[in-house]
Amino acid sequence: MTSTLFSPFELNSTLTLQNRILMAPLTRCMADENLVPTEQMAQYYARRADTGLIISEATIIRPDGQGYPNTPGLFNQAQVDGWKKVTTAVHNAGGKIFAQLWHVGRVAHPFFFGGGDVLSASNIGIEGSVPRMRDLSYQTPRAASVEEIAQLVADYAKAAKNAIAAGFDGVEIHGANGYLIDQFLHLASNNRSDEYGGSVQNMSRFALEVVDAVIAAIGSDRVALRLSPGAYFLMEGNHDDRAVFDHLLQALNSRSLAFVHIGIFDDSMTFDYLGGHASDYVRKYYKGTLVGVGGYTAETGAQAIAENRFDLVAVGRPMIANPDYISRVKNSEPLKEYEDSMLQALV
Ligand code: FNR
Repeated sequence: MTSTLFSPFELNSTLTLQNRILMAPLTRCMADENLVPTEQMAQYYARRADTGLIISEATIIRPDGQGYPNTPGLFNQAQVDGWKKVTTAVHNAGGKIFAQLWHVGRVAHPFFFGGGDVLSASNIGIEGSVPRMRDLSYQTPRAASVEEIAQLVADYAKAAKNAIAAGFDGVEIHGANGYLIDQFLHLASNNRSDEYGGSVQNMSRFALEVVDAVIAAIGSDRVALRLSPGAYFLMEGNHDDRAVFDHLLQALNSRSLAFVHIGIFDDSMTFDYLGGHASDYVRKYYKGTLVGVGGYTAETGAQAIAENRFDLVAVGRPMIANPDYISRVKNSEPLKEYEDSMLQALV
């Protein structure tokens, strides 16, 4: 049954994947104090080079996009050089790797970037404190001005260029999981009344501007987008969010992206306002290649692909627990169970 996963998959004329299993983006907080990827990270990714495509841990596009310790960046030469070691190791092992481009928006903390404002779509904050740094409480963000939004768009494009310079095969724009782009897409975090809020076109505008700027920078074949139409993390869902995603997904159909990827931890979740699973909802409106994720095994992933619910499956936690995930699945060997304690080391 899982054998269908192991034939090559042509994403587009630029990229063919050796199989249909992606390594999901997984934040590990292991970059050095300058947010430069390390040699250990290069080896960690290279061990997983037999996946169809590795999507890197989320990587910040600029200093004020940081909300967690030691998350890597892609905004200076040292970081580009560090990532070059990672991409070279992955390519030498026969793999392909995309960089996930990240700005956390209101989830940022000035502790990480030496003070200053936290930017978001609107001045609506989140409760709580930074994970693993409980003494850092989130602060109320400031709504980005139109000029600041233009700069953010330019900074995503610059980070995408840096990713190509660092040897990545492409980028996945992180538009999911309650971070900056997602903050424009949901009513709970966007109450703007200018051209970036108040209508489905306006709420989709920032996401589409980022997509178009990144495509202009590196070409659509190398650009993917992760989205969470179902709010489940750092975000409250609203019945009217649905119309925003209806519009956005249809607008994306003309962009020829490499793929769209669902942002979710467990795809067995259902959302009333989406009429069921987030993946089934996106499949209905988005016509390009779709990546499913969230609690899938090779068996259930293969089955979902056979049922045409999506085209490729991404695997997260089992990939942390099993660096040799692909060969284990191919050979029907048992998998090690993921545990949170495994996050403490890059194996
Ligand atoms: C994640 N996830 C995640 N998602 C993302 O878009 N960027 C990221 O950097 C991370 N980081 C991250 C770290 C850790 C430790 C976990 C467990 C998860 C979500 C991840 O990509 C995936 O959607 C979920 O893990 C669900 O897939 P699995 O684990 O059920 O296969």
